[in-house]
Amino acid sequence: MNFHPPTAYGHLSEAISQILVTPEQLEAKVRELGERISQDYEDKNPLLIGVLKGVFPFMADLVRMITIPHEVDFMAVSSYSRETRRQGLVRLEKDLGESIRGRHVLFVEDMIDTGLTLSYLLRNLRSREPATLEVCAIFNKPQRRLIDIPIKYKGFDLPDKFVVGYGLDYREQYRNLPFVGLLKAEVLHPNKNKKDVS
Ligand code: IMP
Ligand code: MG
Repeated sequence: MNFHPPTAYGHLSEAISQILVTPEQLEAKVRELGERISQDYEDKNPLLIGVLKGVFPFMADLVRMITIPHEVDFMAVSSYSRETRRQGLVRLEKDLGESIRGRHVLFVEDMIDTGLTLSYLLRNLRSREPATLEVCAIFNKPQRRLIDIPIKYKGFDLPDKFVVGYGLDYREQYRNLPFVGLLKAEVLHPNKNKKDVS
């Protein structure tokens, strides 16, 4: 946004088979979300809460499209195991800096997939008695949803495929890409179909 990112990312862009959301589409959508949020929360000094790490590029772009006073805070979570995650259990690694009682809270997410993590966090936040609690997500995979979550501010619906870029990672890489794309099969499954040449 405004910074005009580089057009090529060397090996990183070579690993992408298809771009699903372009930087231009991202900018237009984030602008639209920022405008709606600015209208809806005027005079409410909302608190935007993001979950690290994936949300950082979206949060940075979104707040610069918001024209009203607001505050930002972050949480960090980790899942114990695949099994406990399925039950919606996550460990809070970093909590909020301040109380949210009586605040207008907007929960900002990079991706809502099964919805399990978000559902746990929303329950946790609701118990702290904010005045209002809404969700803003830039990416959504509706086919994967296990728990229904009302998303007031929604960016893009994506197919049930693994994507990277704009904060989303594969083994901690690709978060810096200014678009969202699919990884080539050989990057995701490097040992599949590899001939034994020894
Ligand atoms: P869930 O909604 O509890 O299943 O968890 C969603 C989280 O999983 C997101 O916040 C992402 O961190 C991660 N995630 C889901 N789908 C993808 C993807 O396609 N690429 C990268 N990360 C993903
Ligand atoms: Mg996330």
